[in-house]
Amino acid sequence: PVLQLDIITIFGDYFAPLELSLLGKAREQGLLAWRVHDLRDWTHDRHRTVDDTPYGGGAGMVMKPEPWGEALDAVLDAHPDARPTIVVPTPAGEPFRQATAHELAGAGHLIFACGRYEGIDARVLEYARTRAAVREISLGDYVLNGGEVAVLAMVEAIGRLIPGVVGNPESLVEESHAADTDGLLEYPVYTKPASWRGLDVPEILLSGHHAAIAAWRRESSIERTRQRRPDLLGEASEPDPTGE
Ligand code: ADE
Repeated sequence: PVLQLDIITIFGDYFAPLELSLLGKAREQGLLAWRVHDLRDWTHDRHRTVDDTPYGGGAGMVMKPEPWGEALDAVLDAHPDARPTIVVPTPAGEPFRQATAHELAGAGHLIFACGRYEGIDARVLEYARTRAAVREISLGDYVLNGGEVAVLAMVEAIGRLIPGVVGNPESLVEESHAADTDGLLEYPVYTKPASWRGLDVPEILLSGHHAAIAAWRRESSIERTRQRRPDLLGEASEPDPTGE
């Protein structure tokens, strides 16, 4: 496959929906391959324990290093390929962006390590960095119960960038955050009927005037981005502080 994914988790059921839709088809076409591994397969006690209390005290539990070490060794040893990338979803990570999705789509082999509780013993990543590239990545500034939902979102964002996964490559071009639209948010879209519940589609879109439509869309994108995500606008688009 173009991209091999290994997902290590204690809640494999979260990944059942990967079979559906576009990504399931990509798997059938051999573009994408994934395996979901149960972290508890690498425990050796009767209760298949994966967590313990934190050194230094405090609330919550920390994931034990031993099962993680064995799990990562097993997955890495099964793929003697050049350095894979281990992705660790955590709210303390670097932000996941469209550019991140592009980078990871080209990585060849990704290993997702889903933490639960208060996180994974920090020595696990220290060890992992000796065997692979490691990226701690956050989906956004909010806290989920574990990495699984974050990985599901990342895999969908990454998988659709693999050539052939999205049927019409044109649909990748103008969407929000695409590099060739300067990272602006997408303009509003309309379809038939031209008038609905007293609300009309903007006249210009019915004009057939392609240059004017392109200009309207560009202006709509800029205005929408200014209102919702001013942080995405480069300095060039910011109001002139001199007022000139
Ligand atoms: N795990 C818990 N919260 C998360 C977040 N915001 N992003 C990625 N992984 C997480």
